[in-house]
Amino acid sequence: MNKLYLLAILSATMTIMAACVSDTIEGDRVDLDLMQAVSNSAPSNTLDYYVLPGHTDLAALPQDPRNPLTKEKVELGKFLFFETGMGIVPENEAGHGSYSCASCHVPAADFKPGRKQGIGEGGFGFGFRGESRVKHSEYIEDEMDVQGIRPLSVLNVAFSAENTLWNGSFGSGGANVGTEDIWGVFDEATDLNHLGYQGLETQNIEGLKIHRLLMTPELANDMGYTSYFDKAFPEFEGEERYSNITTSLAISAYLRTLTTSEAPFQKWLKGNMSAMSTQEKRGALLFFGDANCISCHTSPAFSAVRFFALGVNDLDHQVSFKEGPETAKKNLGRGGFTGREEDLYKFKVPHLYNLQGTQFYFHGSSKRSIEEVVEYFDKAVPENPNVPQEALAADFRPLNLSDQEKADLVAFLKFGLQDPTVMKYAPEALPSGNCFPNADWKSRREIGCE
Ligand code: HEC
Ligand code: HEC
Repeated sequence: MNKLYLLAILSATMTIMAACVSDTIEGDRVDLDLMQAVSNSAPSNTLDYYVLPGHTDLAALPQDPRNPLTKEKVELGKFLFFETGMGIVPENEAGHGSYSCASCHVPAADFKPGRKQGIGEGGFGFGFRGESRVKHSEYIEDEMDVQGIRPLSVLNVAFSAENTLWNGSFGSGGANVGTEDIWGVFDEATDLNHLGYQGLETQNIEGLKIHRLLMTPELANDMGYTSYFDKAFPEFEGEERYSNITTSLAISAYLRTLTTSEAPFQKWLKGNMSAMSTQEKRGALLFFGDANCISCHTSPAFSAVRFFALGVNDLDHQVSFKEGPETAKKNLGRGGFTGREEDLYKFKVPHLYNLQGTQFYFHGSSKRSIEEVVEYFDKAVPENPNVPQEALAADFRPLNLSDQEKADLVAFLKFGLQDPTVMKYAPEALPSGNCFPNADWKSRREIGCE
């Protein structure tokens, strides 16, 4: 071999080695800095605060004392969330038995719809991740089950289950303590808060009705669920055992187990320092530090039962299917529920894991990429002219991040917080044998049911 050639190889090898060493040194330093930043930000001052329990660790998951988690409830809820056979009270018979909760909370899209707006009843088709669901030709728009706001992901919902929805209107405790006098007044459904459950358990009772789903003793029997209900709800007597209430409790139990405990950042927290790249770690350092994301995204899943105005655009400006008069109130955020001036345009802080499954961000799906979201926080210029300056959150202010810093933050959000294993939460088949999450003929073909 020619001498020069050998020298070239040698020098290239040394450069690579030097790069590796400096990367390791930077990596080690970043790890230490990050450990410090993460634990400093935790109420417990330990890394453990952010560790999400695994889905089978029921005792460690946040739960409603009135709906303690059991394996039996979770098993039943895992079927019912997807059960198209409960779609027996449609607005239009053409959609009978063709939709489920998961029509809008699609596992392959990280439990959001695969499109800007979810379509339950009145939708047609699925695609790969719910992105091809369109209006059913036999429906008029008013008959469709669509909302004027983007569906929230139900992943990690246990960590913000005290008060659910973007406006937090469901749930008897948490932020709703002190709002008792308006339950059922402006919004009839919130009367259910008087039952005394947490937001998740309360909302899903109403959710079944809103989304035209129903459970009865006959149906439970026909679809093969009677024994599942018997095992999950022995304390409920007679017809009550096979009802929308027990169905809500089972679905809520299941939803509480949907954690993203296998995300790289979770592995890093548990001591696997190579689970994240150095760039992701630098991004995390910004998240917990200079970019101040942690000041609002405070729960172990980076959600919070707190409400802030960021001045983002609403959904109804951007979609063709309108929900109707309800939407105007939804656009007011927390204020649409409480009627208080100081709550206007404030929305609940969503969790930040698994943002990649469907690329629509904020309550109005106004951003199409994580890069755009980070840019929005960096500039802090509101895009919605309806939101007055004085309503905006004090912590929504320009960050002046460099391009490199923005790229690092994006890497952390995109890869560090993406648990690739969430498809494990979808059942393989339903006891009823029904196709899910949709069962119209086009979906059936696309999903592979026939
Ligand atoms: C037509 C689409 C659609 C269907 C079907 C649907 N959802 Fe939703 N879901 C939404 C939308 C939209 C929101 C946000 C609404 C809001 O905040 O006002 C939401 C919010 C939620 C939340 C709140 C999460 C949080 O963090 O506050 C839960 C829980 C939920 N849905 C569960 C269910 C269950 C259970 C079913 C079946 C009974 C269901 N959804 C069916 C569209 C849908
Ligand atoms: C002032 C409190 C606050 C701060 C600070 C904050 N957020 Fe948020 N974040 C929110 C709220 C509230 C929403 C929902 C806003 C809406 O849709 O109206 C949100 C939404 C998001 C979303 C969209 C999630 C989804 O499901 O659509 C992402 C991503 C996000 N924030 C990331 C960040 C990052 C990264 C930072 C730091 C640069 C940050 N946030 C700082 C309160 C905050």
